[in-house]
Amino acid sequence: MIANDKAVNRGVAPVTYGQGERPPRGDYSTARGDYTCDQNWSAYTAQEHDLYRRLYERQAAQLEGLACDEFTAAVKHLGAPERIPRFDELSNRLYRQTRWEVVAVPGLIPEEAFFALLAKRRFPVTGWIRGPEEFDYVVEPDVFHDLFGHVPLLFDPVFADYMQAYGAGGLKASRLDACELLARLYWYTVEFGLIQTPQGLRAYGAGILSSAGELRHSVRSGEPSRVPFDLQRIMRTRYKIDSYQSTYFVIDSFQQLFDATAPDFTPIYRAVRELPEIEAGAVLPGERLIAAS
Ligand SMILES: [Fe+2]
Repeated sequence: MIANDKAVNRGVAPVTYGQGERPPRGDYSTARGDYTCDQNWSAYTAQEHDLYRRLYERQAAQLEGLACDEFTAAVKHLGAPERIPRFDELSNRLYRQTRWEVVAVPGLIPEEAFFALLAKRRFPVTGWIRGPEEFDYVVEPDVFHDLFGHVPLLFDPVFADYMQAYGAGGLKASRLDACELLARLYWYTVEFGLIQTPQGLRAYGAGILSSAGELRHSVRSGEPSRVPFDLQRIMRTRYKIDSYQSTYFVIDSFQQLFDATAPDFTPIYRAVRELPEIEAGAVLPGERLIAAS
């Protein structure tokens, strides 16, 4: 997950998009220059492993009919649900499949550091796990969100390439002052994306797949607007950080996502800046919506 680097420039720790001045959770004192750190697996307590298991089991029980097949098939690569995985063991399995690895970070990290890691096919995973009182909802991404939500699809070759391309695009967006527009693409695909399949709508976004309630809401509820994937439409659309999304964007395939985001974004950023922003949940005149599954 990305943090905004404005606060870093002021000499304090990074903050999340839209979270104001609250410092991020996590111990940044052990982080290296690229924000990675050791996982310190032996420091997890039995209660923390058990919390991970309960979170894992709650989500795994909901996947059928709501998560995309690629995700469901790859979850097993995380290993036994009884304990928080060792990142080095997981990385060995992942590297063999798609040449990605997971690396530990203290928590949210600045945008540029995040993009640089993705561009090198290294996925940053938060080391700490939420407390038992946060079982249903945690504000910042923890080890469960990062692992369960994000890592399974890194075993998919096309999605894995998309993530690397996103990182490379992010480094470029930083130079073009377009990170906010690009962050919306991450939000509406990697975090909250839906995919149309022959069996119906399915979720592939990590924010959905690691959420207790949003998985069913995103696929089945009649409330939110579901809009066919459109790059400029996404970059114009605000998002919600403190409730279920009121707009989801639907892709047809991971290849569509990869192909649509392959061109140089420079003229696209320019075009988007000329157009008004769109509120989360708003539907444009004449827009085709996709029905709940
Ligand atoms: Fe995430």
